Parts: sequence; structure tokens; C-alpha cells
Amino acid sequence: MCGIIGYIGPKSVVPILVEGLKKLEYRGYDSAGIAVVNGDQIQVRRVKGKISALEKSLDKAPLNGSYGVGHTRWATHGRPCEENAHPHQDCTGSLVVVHNGIIENYLPLKRKLKEEGHTFRTETDTEVIAHLVEKYFKGSLEKAVLHTVREIEGAYAIAVLSTQDKGKIVAVKSGPPAVVGLGEGEYFVSSDINPLLSHTQKIVFLEDEEMAVIEPQGVKFSDLEGNVLKKKVDQISWSPLMIEKRGFKHFMLKEIIEQPQVVRDTLQGRISLDSGKICLEETGISSKHLEKIAKVVIIACGTSYHAGLVGKCFIETLAQIPVDVEFASEYRYRDFILDEKALVIVISQSGETADSLAALRAVKEKNPLSLSICNVVNSSIARDTDGVLYTHAGPEIGVAATKTFSAQMAALALLALHLAQVKGRLDEKTRLSFIEDLLRIPHLMENILNQAESIEDLALKFISFSHFLYLGRWVNFPVALEGALKLKEISYIHAEGYPGGEMKHGPIALIDEKMPTMVIVPKDRVYDKMLSNISEIKTRAGYLLAVAFEDDKEIQDRVDKVIPIPPINPLFTPFLTTLPLQLFAYYIAAKRGADVDQPRNLAKSVTVE
Ligand code: G6P
Repeated sequence: MCGIIGYIGPKSVVPILVEGLKKLEYRGYDSAGIAVVNGDQIQVRRVKGKISALEKSLDKAPLNGSYGVGHTRWATHGRPCEENAHPHQDCTGSLVVVHNGIIENYLPLKRKLKEEGHTFRTETDTEVIAHLVEKYFKGSLEKAVLHTVREIEGAYAIAVLSTQDKGKIVAVKSGPPAVVGLGEGEYFVSSDINPLLSHTQKIVFLEDEEMAVIEPQGVKFSDLEGNVLKKKVDQISWSPLMIEKRGFKHFMLKEIIEQPQVVRDTLQGRISLDSGKICLEETGISSKHLEKIAKVVIIACGTSYHAGLVGKCFIETLAQIPVDVEFASEYRYRDFILDEKALVIVISQSGETADSLAALRAVKEKNPLSLSICNVVNSSIARDTDGVLYTHAGPEIGVAATKTFSAQMAALALLALHLAQVKGRLDEKTRLSFIEDLLRIPHLMENILNQAESIEDLALKFISFSHFLYLGRWVNFPVALEGALKLKEISYIHAEGYPGGEMKHGPIALIDEKMPTMVIVPKDRVYDKMLSNISEIKTRAGYLLAVAFEDDKEIQDRVDKVIPIPPINPLFTPFLTTLPLQLFAYYIAAKRGADVDQPRNLAKSVTVE
């Protein structure tokens, strides 16, 4: 939620900040702003709306400066409007702050600062930071910031600059992510690495309770006591090209199309074709530790939670270990029971989701083994778990997750086979046959994506519907949830995902000719049960769309329209059944003129509770 950026160096600062904000825009996009230092003046420009509105304003009335900071906002405290947009200033106007996170004790601080004579101009929690730094400033910006962060409670990644201590940006992380980019004579701070990739691949990841003082001659790192830190510099392998649209109308479509490659990349190097074994020693968790596991708990949010539900089926079937899948936002507040035989898996694309991180921290107090499945290298969740299994999906820019879902499922399939291997739960022949099935998936995914045009034609017939039901069972129940989530988040059509067997306990009351149902019905152990659901819907005049195996003749007469997928081992059908549902949602949303990559009210990385 919210993106921050700062730049100091010889280049023109405004374009760097604006381009950087565009790459952070997925984190929030209800208002934006920049502040640049020009001589003894700070020039601030803020607008309601997206970065394009900020660009327009800057085209009309350009700003100039030698260094500066910028922000793209997802409102938590205070309406999205120009006055609440960051950067925020102190009373004197000589200091600005940009902030990602929430200051929980801002009300008492604000009251006190007001009594002390400070004038507040916004409804935000962030503004207290500007006034506190003003209050404690005695010539050194970093000292005033250190003093300030001792008073604020909550989660924050901030960047501050002041004309009274010129030529520096002070950044602090305590919760939300912050990275520092080290270029040639130029330095950056940002919420993530995306804006930095076209300038440098040398990145320092700030840890919680760390500060960076960024100056033209270099960056100094310290803890919040002021003790100097020597930080590791990471060389990032993502290239700037990976965050371009490359001719696609939307990032989401590009990311859907990338899925076969993403699954290939996630499987690659982790399966030894010679021995027929899965090798996951890279996670940092040894087979010896995994042998003792008697229970798995998967914790996640949003689409990652749906991947977790698929992973539950993989692990139960292949490794025969009981699995619970939990919403991080619920689990963290429960009196959960874990012992040393539990493996906790946190799934998070960004590795920064506040609830997932908090649940992980709560879990760690009970000391179980923890493993994360993350896409962003060195993200907070990746660093806080005992081991990490990275998905190799590359940067995902569309706010609605697509390719990272497939990559997470691939990682979970590998993990399930690995657990089966270390616990001796599958004979070699069976394990090999699952591995072969897994390796065929990218090619089969390509076959489905080749039918995108016919899925588009079908989708266009449904653009004016207001409600949709998605039904699946067993391993495709999570796919029903994910299909419904995709449709509602990008097209704003109400959609519900349900396990087929639960339909008669409620949703059946909604069925009529205005409520189409998408059934996911590959030939698997619950096929006949899904056929019963189909009959029940037909009897009530409901329109039926089915994702089914292409060689399934029976289904053709039972539903109104079939989206065919190639046959595959039933356990792995989610890799295939997901694709038509993503495309279906995408084409409906695009045709309705929705902002597909940045749906209203959403943000890609939810770093607040
Ligand atoms: C947000 C995003 C979703 C994502 C969820 C969890 O809601 O819009 O696409 O699935 O966060 O994010 P994570 O980074 O933890 O996977």
C-alpha cells in the first residue's frame, strides 16, 4: 500500500521520480505527489488520482530541483484528495516526508503537537511525522528523524528531506519494505526494486529498525540507535524489460500469457531427471528436518490463499500429511496450536503482506519450522522464515495476481512431491509418473492460451451480467474461488465461488436465467457429483458454462457452452482450469472499459492490516 521513492544524483530528478512512481503505482493509486529541492526552496506538487494526473499537472507547470522524493497513495487515514496526498510538510515548509504504512498513535501525537503550536493541514496520520521532525530538528536531519521514530508507533517506511540540512534524504524502515539503489554517483530509495532496475541492479534491502542517509557521495546505514551498519549489497537479476508491457494492452494479459514459461522456470533446476528426484535443498531446510513433519499449516491472503488450498490437495494426496489452510488475517488472532512437528508455510507473492507477516511472527513464537513461498527475493516474509522456496515468475505488475498463482501451484506441487520423497510416501514409479505429468503442464497450458480468441468471443456475451456463480470440487474448488475473485476484482461483477456440494445449502436459491454458472468439471473423482450439480442448475433454467476435458463428449449435451482443456492427471488440473477463467475475467473487464491493471480500491501489496 503506497509507494515511496527518492533520488539524489546528477540527473534531472522530476522524470526519475515520475517514472519511478509509475512502476510503484500498483501499490496504490488514489493520489500522488512529488517534492524537489531547488536552491533553498522545496517545490511540492500533489494531485488527486493517478500518476498520469500528476504528469499532466507537471507538464502544465513544470518543477525543477536537484533531488527529491515522491509518493503514490492508497488511502488509509484521510480521504483521497489533493490535500491528503503526500509529500507532507511541517509548519515551516522547509521539510517534507513521504510515508508508506500507518502511524497508530497519531491522534495523541497530533493533539500534543497542536497544543505545542503546530498547525495541521491534512487528515492524515503521516503529517505528525513532519511536525515531529520539525520539533526535534537541531541542525541534523538524521538525528531529528531518529528522535521522531522513537515516538511513533505502527508501521512505516519513510523518506524525509529538509532544506535546513540540505543534500540528503533520510529513509527509515519499520514494517513496510524499503530498498536503497546504489548507482554510479546516484542513489535511490524506493518501496521496491522495480523503479530502480533501469538505473542499477545493486540493491540494499533495509531491515526493520534501520536507517539510510542518502547523499550525493554515498549512503550511510545505521540502526535506530545511530550505530553504523555495514549492509550487504545484492545484485538483482530481474531486468528492466521484465516490467514493460511489450505490446500487450494490459500487464494482466501479458502475465496470463507468460504462465507456461513461469511454470517452466519454477520447476527448472528442481527436478533431477537422472534420479527422478525433487531437489529442494536450496530452500535451506534439510530433508532431515522435513522427515519429522506430521502436520502442515499454510497461511496466506487473497490469491495466495487459493494457491494454498490447491497445495493442500497436492500435499494430502502425494505426501499424505494433514494440511490446514488459514487466512493470515484470522490465524494471527487465534489461539492456534502448533508443535515441533508442524511445518508452517507462508505463501505470499510480494512477501510483504502485513497480515501474512504478522501471522508468521505470531507463529514463530511457538517455534515450528517455517517455509515461505515468495516471488520477491529478499522480501520480509522470505527473510523471516527458516527456508524459502522462490517462485520464478518475474515481476507481476497487474494488481490481480495471475502468473504468480500458477508459479505458487508449481512450487507447491514440487514441495508435495519432495515431502512424499523424504517421507517415503510414494513408490518410485508413481512419483516418476507425477513428475512426468508436472513437466507436461507448460506445454498443455500453451494449448489453452492458443484458444484465447474463442474465450474472448465467449466472454463478450457476458459483459452485461451482474452476477456469476463458480462451482468446483476437490482440487478445483479453489479454482472456483479464484475464478470468481478474478471476475469481481477486475470487472466489478459480483461473483461467488463455491464448492459444488455446498450449492444446495444456499446459492441454489440464486439460480435463474440471470445468474450464469461456470462449472469446473474435468474427469476426476468428483466428476459425477459435478454432473448432479449441473442437472440441478439446468432444472432451474440457469445458463451453464463448463471448463472440461476436450475428449469429454458427455458434458457437451449437459451444458450450454464448453471451454475445452487437454486431459491431464486430475490432481494437476488447476494448472489448466485456471487459465480460461483468468482470460474470461480479463476479456469481460477489458470490454467493460475497467481499469484492468489497477482495479478500484485495490492494491497489489497490502502492507497495512
Ligand atoms: C492483494 C492483491 C492480491 C494478492 C493478495 C495477497 O490483495 O491484490 O492479488 O493475492 O494481496 O498478496 P501476497 O503478496 O501476499 O501474495
